[in-house]
Amino acid sequence: MSPRIVRTVAELRAALAPHRASSIGFVPTMGALHEGHLSLLRAARDENAVVVLSIFVNPTQFGEAADLDAYPRTEASDVALAGGAGTDLIFAPSEGEMYPAGFATTVSVGGAITGTLEGALRGRSHFDGVATVVSKLLLAVQPDRAYFGAKDAQQVVVVRRMVADLGIPVEIITCPTSRDADGLARSSRNTRLSPTERELAAAIPRSLRASRDAFASGIRDPRRLAATVREHLAAAELEPEYVEVVDADSLEPIAQVEGPALLALAVRVGPVRLIDNVVLVPGVTDPLPLAPTDRSHP
Ligand code: PAJ
Repeated sequence: MSPRIVRTVAELRAALAPHRASSIGFVPTMGALHEGHLSLLRAARDENAVVVLSIFVNPTQFGEAADLDAYPRTEASDVALAGGAGTDLIFAPSEGEMYPAGFATTVSVGGAITGTLEGALRGRSHFDGVATVVSKLLLAVQPDRAYFGAKDAQQVVVVRRMVADLGIPVEIITCPTSRDADGLARSSRNTRLSPTERELAAAIPRSLRASRDAFASGIRDPRRLAATVREHLAAAELEPEYVEVVDADSLEPIAQVEGPALLALAVRVGPVRLIDNVVLVPGVTDPLPLAPTDRSHP
């Protein structure tokens, strides 16, 4: 059945009121749904009585106006795809509903987790935008569980910090990165790649696989692991904005990989900026399979 769409917080609250005694799973997105988003919706469907999806292209987390303007908006097909993945209710507010005149509050997560990686490149304001909109969405939906993708690893760390610090009563669930057959992480921005750029982008998962293999062979020096990634990207003439190996929880730099580490990168391919990562865990050979990840949901 087609999911119901609501546009205001008041309608959302009214629609969810009869279901407060049962479990509510929530997947926040900016729309242009792809298999990655659907894997989150299916996880929510498996674990909750009611599944809520939000679609809101949040202007406050975009640095470049051009990126915001170019962001794909495909609501009709999103509704059909979300319905197929078992979504019950879609919250698709206008900008005015989320940020009415006079809006003046920012939720800002401080410290290393927002200052590094994407925060260093795009500025902390990106994560201020994310934290503010996610806290507003969590307050509007008040779900039992909210689902986020490991592809945006730093976003998950920031959201977990914010939820803990503000005492928001929700369980944050991290779902594995969903990938195309050649390993490229699915992203709404991939649709803007030309066929040639799409082929070059395949060097990203290749580079992550190579660093994971180097790690499996015993290399624990973050610089060497990052250098392996850079070499594979350079072979495709891709120059990353950053390649970093950091502590997976604190996102602080490390001298040696001794506990779970996040190897994260950002690289521009043609008109789009792509991010990807792999988690390296000593003693675990394949912590995050860099293969298509839809096997559990045929
Ligand atoms: P968006 O980029 O639409 O992503 C929505 C959710 O889908 C995020 O949790 C993201 O990590 C997840 N996702 C995207 N691609 C994925 C993939 N290939 N595999 C698994 N999960 C994937 O992230 C945002 O929107 C926004 O910042 C938001 C949290 C909605 C706040 O505006």
